[in-house]
Amino acid sequence: MKELSIYIHIPFCEQKCIYCAFVSYCVNNEIKNKYFQNLKKEIQERKTDREISSIYIGGGTPSCVDAKYIKEILEEVYANYNLKKDIEITIECNPNSVDEEKLKVYKNIGINRISFGVQSLDNDTLKKLGRLHNKDQVVCAINNAKKVGFKNISVDLLLGLENQNIQDFEKQLQELIALDITHISAYMLEVEEGTKLFSMVENKEINLPIPEKTIEIYEKTVNFLKKNGFFRYEISNFSKIGYESKHNINYWKCNEYLGFGVAAYSYFEGYRFSNSINFNEYENKENLLYEKIDNRERIEELIMLGLRCKFGFDFNEIIKLGYDIFLNDNFKKYLDKNILIKEGNWIYLNPDYYGVSNSIICDILP
Ligand SMILES: C[S@@+](CC[C@H](N)C(=O)[O-])C[C@H]1O[C@@H](n2cnc3c(N)ncnc32)[C@H](O)[C@@H]1O
Ligand code: SF4
Repeated sequence: MKELSIYIHIPFCEQKCIYCAFVSYCVNNEIKNKYFQNLKKEIQERKTDREISSIYIGGGTPSCVDAKYIKEILEEVYANYNLKKDIEITIECNPNSVDEEKLKVYKNIGINRISFGVQSLDNDTLKKLGRLHNKDQVVCAINNAKKVGFKNISVDLLLGLENQNIQDFEKQLQELIALDITHISAYMLEVEEGTKLFSMVENKEINLPIPEKTIEIYEKTVNFLKKNGFFRYEISNFSKIGYESKHNINYWKCNEYLGFGVAAYSYFEGYRFSNSINFNEYENKENLLYEKIDNRERIEELIMLGLRCKFGFDFNEIIKLGYDIFLNDNFKKYLDKNILIKEGNWIYLNPDYYGVSNSIICDILP
């Protein structure tokens, strides 16, 4: 049976960070309450018999709402879906909005993976980004998560921040690794249109490093993490052996997922659909998008997502969908030069070329 994941979107934050373009709102309890009622309804209505291999509760900031809401929605999932025995259940948490009690509730309701949005351990940087936590709160949150029994703890970090240098960044990584975390996502900062950061960059109120500098820090980070037992399994994701995120892997392998909540996307039985970003439209089930994925799109996704991670793509699947990739001259050239590597039915990208993956992908698409 093919893998199926569930994504649940919690679109609430206490404050908007300057760089963030995710769908999240700072709203009152009444709106939150109504949202969770609608979310439970949606979870019930989209019931399927298929087995679920991972659940990801993301946002927004899932930890900024009362833990009783998270308990209620997970119970709704448990009541309506069949779960695999080794299911991975992740919740995204901000360090300032979890304490030991909340983490205990998460543990007791079956969550087995915590993803902390750390971004940086430099207090001045955190303040400038609009984050509500400091370094001490990060350390305290991770220690509390371990204390209540979480064994799988991830942190998100940002690369390409103002004044970032590799010495300070390695020190931060060292401090986090010493806390016994199992997974690190290190994202290159994107300057998204419509964010405060975007206008700060335009008005020269912030001085971000040139891309070459960020790539240099990224490459040094890859080596540093490898030496410390964290292996890259996707461009931005590193883990100890056995702690790769099942949920992300399902997504990169183009497996199916159901997305619940405002702005959530689904890919299910050949269709891609997404809920509205607006609360009323979401309640009225006015989908933003509902489209059948044709073979060409499927091929493009399998190649694009596959080559971003160590797993690659299955060429037989691509050929079955109607694209004989072995007739593509660029593909043959990359195989000859060991830039693309063939193992059995699988093709993956030589990790030395992750930095130029986009142009390689473009060269081999149908
Ligand atoms: C859904 S977001 C937020 C999760 C959580 N609310 C937090 O802020 O920590 C997941 C991650 O995306 C990353 N992210 C958000 N905006 C980004 C941007 N503009 N560029 C790169 N990464 C970004 C951050 O590292 C963040 O932790
Ligand atoms: S980065 Fe996280 S906390 Fe900040 S606005 Fe985005 S979702 Fe909210």
